Amino acid sequence: MPVAIGGPERASVGTRAPPPEGSDVTDAARPKITVPGIAAMKSSGELISMITAYDATFATMVDEAGIDMILVGDSVAMVVQGRANTIGVSLAEMCYHVRMVAAAEPRALIVGDLPFGTYQSSPQQAVESSVEVLKAGAEAVKLEGGVSVAEAIAAITAVDIPVVGHIGLTPQSYHRMGGHRVQGRTEGSTPGGRERLLADAAAVEDAGAFALVVEGVPRNLAAEITEAVGIPTIGIGAGPDCDGQVLVLHDVLGLSDARYKFTTQYANLKQVGIEAVRAYCDDVKHRRWPDDEHSFH
Ligand code: KIV
Repeated sequence: MPVAIGGPERASVGTRAPPPEGSDVTDAARPKITVPGIAAMKSSGELISMITAYDATFATMVDEAGIDMILVGDSVAMVVQGRANTIGVSLAEMCYHVRMVAAAEPRALIVGDLPFGTYQSSPQQAVESSVEVLKAGAEAVKLEGGVSVAEAIAAITAVDIPVVGHIGLTPQSYHRMGGHRVQGRTEGSTPGGRERLLADAAAVEDAGAFALVVEGVPRNLAAEITEAVGIPTIGIGAGPDCDGQVLVLHDVLGLSDARYKFTTQYANLKQVGIEAVRAYCDDVKHRRWPDDEHSFH
């Protein structure tokens, strides 16, 4: 009789019907989200929810909230490491964060970002970097670019590593764009031009990616891309017509000071945290804490 290693297998899904209005997506018995399950959500019409997380605590939190995909994004460079852009984060650092998220064993699909400089040199480099991220616990990798990285995507998917593409405002192109700037507002086939972005989307799909993040483009262009490709598009700053949405967790929770037009701050945890720590600090200074109840005898 086969022996189950690491506990019973969770059931997995191929397709899921859209949840009825008001249904509980946080149901603890919900099945493990898989790559084919995400790919099938476009045809079933169920919208895809994705959010970033970089450690086990937050991965558990977003998973219990019912998110479909956790992105261990290279945005960690900005919201955790305090850098101005994503360019400096290393592959070893990304793998470290992927390991922490994987340790939470989320039902959500774990996608790990390939950081800048770890896939652009050659398809072989792209495969080797993807292997590292998968070994750290990711279930798919994400990389930025379209036409220019199609060969890399094809090489990664050829060894059965699922890929999420990322086009539009690609933060790793910070210097080419002159900062984090909306793309696709100009016509043309040069990087960032409208026709180029349509070609980028087609190239990513043709190369074998199973989903595509579309970031920082006009709403009508994101809608056109979503219509044109057979894989689900996941928008950020791309309007409501994509097949799903992704946001950075620290922006959603109000942990970061950044305020963007495309983000909604659903909570103000920074303020809650400041008040909690201020109260603790005050109690310590006035010998109100710990009290006898919190002491050993
Ligand atoms: O790194 C990240 O968080 C991302 C999202 C902004 C899509 O790539």
